[in-house]
Amino acid sequence: MATHDNEYLTIALPKGKLFGLSADLLEKIGYTAEDLSEKSRKLVITNEEKKIKFIISKTADVPTYVEYGAADIGVIGKDVLMESGKDVYELLDLGFGKCHLMMAVDKNNKREKLSDYANTRVATKFPHIAEKFFNGKGMQMEYIKLNGSIELGPIVGLSESIVDIVETGTTLRENNSEDIAFIMDATARLICNRVSFKLKFERIHQLTEDLRKIMEQAK
Ligand code: PRP
Repeated sequence: MATHDNEYLTIALPKGKLFGLSADLLEKIGYTAEDLSEKSRKLVITNEEKKIKFIISKTADVPTYVEYGAADIGVIGKDVLMESGKDVYELLDLGFGKCHLMMAVDKNNKREKLSDYANTRVATKFPHIAEKFFNGKGMQMEYIKLNGSIELGPIVGLSESIVDIVETGTTLRENNSEDIAFIMDATARLICNRVSFKLKFERIHQLTEDLRKIMEQAK
């Protein structure tokens, strides 16, 4: 796929929770393709008529495709975007995929104050965000990067706490865990490659405005 291929607009969509909501929203403004499905084994799905290419990627990789221009735009959670540190434009808060990033601990081993966790281990998918948070509290921590099922960390004695996404709170409840500190809110964002934004300004601007209108109407 040519970088900054002018004929097509390439859109990176993340597998997982945000896929369906992203695809549905884009469909409302005419951005769709036959066989666009998270289950597809095809990783690039093209709409020749409308000159759109969708690439379906692992969630954490969306900012990378967009930063390097392999995708012009993409949809990604603010949490993953911040953790990635990638240099992209954030065009729009899409409003869905609402969640919070929290520090949580095992209820059975809860310490009295947040500062009592200083110099302990934190398991997380978000070590950069976690480090910024704890640095802000003047707390040195040991960060253990996990790729999923983070709540397992304190249960099996890998860490004293976790920093993870809380959406409904079900995972924390079912694992006898409790959130003890709020770190940030997150929602899905429309992001854009910096060069694409200039080269394909008309198209990207129109798409962003169309999405904005659809979201206004839905309010
Ligand atoms: C996320 C997060 C929590 C869970 C929170 O995991 O890491 O485990 O969702 O949601 P809840 O508050 O509604 O229970 P995800 O399902 O993305 O899978 P993962 O554990 O593989 O990261």
